[in-house]
Amino acid sequence: MRHLMSPLDLSVEELDTLLDLAQDIEAHPDKYAHACEGKKLATLFYEPSTRTRLSHEAAMLNLGGSVLGFSSADSSSASKGESVSDTIRTVSCYADICAMRHPKEGAPMVACQHSKIPVINAGDGGHQHPTQTLTDLLTIRSLKGRLNNLTIGLCGDLKFGRTVHSLINALVRYEGIRFILISPEELRLPEYIRHDVLDRNNIPYEEVVRLEDAMPQLDILYMTRVQKERFFNEEDYVRMKDFYILDKAKMKLAPEDMYVLHPLPRVNEISVEVDDDPRAAYFRQVQYGVYVRMALILTLLDIHVD
Ligand code: NCD
Repeated sequence: MRHLMSPLDLSVEELDTLLDLAQDIEAHPDKYAHACEGKKLATLFYEPSTRTRLSHEAAMLNLGGSVLGFSSADSSSASKGESVSDTIRTVSCYADICAMRHPKEGAPMVACQHSKIPVINAGDGGHQHPTQTLTDLLTIRSLKGRLNNLTIGLCGDLKFGRTVHSLINALVRYEGIRFILISPEELRLPEYIRHDVLDRNNIPYEEVVRLEDAMPQLDILYMTRVQKERFFNEEDYVRMKDFYILDKAKMKLAPEDMYVLHPLPRVNEISVEVDDDPRAAYFRQVQYGVYVRMALILTLLDIHVD
């Protein structure tokens, strides 16, 4: 049985196959409309979510399956003190596959050790968010036609942003990837990722504070929200929250074929005036997130459609 805890749980070949499947689903959705009939997906969300929970559910419904779950710790027995391992043993009796989001790093990993069904990590604290990465990779591959030879700007909260951590882990396996890490000093990419992932793989990167300096060099600009819920004090958050605001003037500095991605939710870091720019791809990215999760559910359940 397979789980998805990190993007590295899939080899590059498996990842390419999964993205091919997602593209086939996009082109021929009807072919897959009954693939998961009789199967159930449980969504176990101990932290707020709009896209990740609903896109997993939409994915399963699009495949003809059904869904059950909870959307906050308060509405589950976690509020009575139940452990993740007891909850997953229980859910294993109700569903065929589950997606779990939890504020504690490693909670989905604990779950998969006690689970009889595949577990998808739908975000664990400031650690990883592998299905967002699958979404990001499908979006980049669809828009740019490749996952190699790209200069990727990662901007905002690189310290706590789990989507950034997972995306870096996945992209370093492709040739010719270069990162520009754009953040205030306080929100720099953690040292363990710079050292263990970037340096160890000889990945070229620079760290800059000003977004304007990076713009002209980028193929992809990946904007992120300052992760309010992971700050230790409100004051630091307030100081950081509007550090970057992407607006029309800054978009003028970017190449014509650069795309702006954002895992969403957006707060202030992208001005709504950018939404009409053909390079703003964050809502297209949401749509890709459904196709890729359909492909992931089929892959983890080992269901093949001819
Ligand atoms: C992200 C997350 O939850 O980490 N959202 C998402 O799943 N698309 C990003 C964020 O909350 O800032």
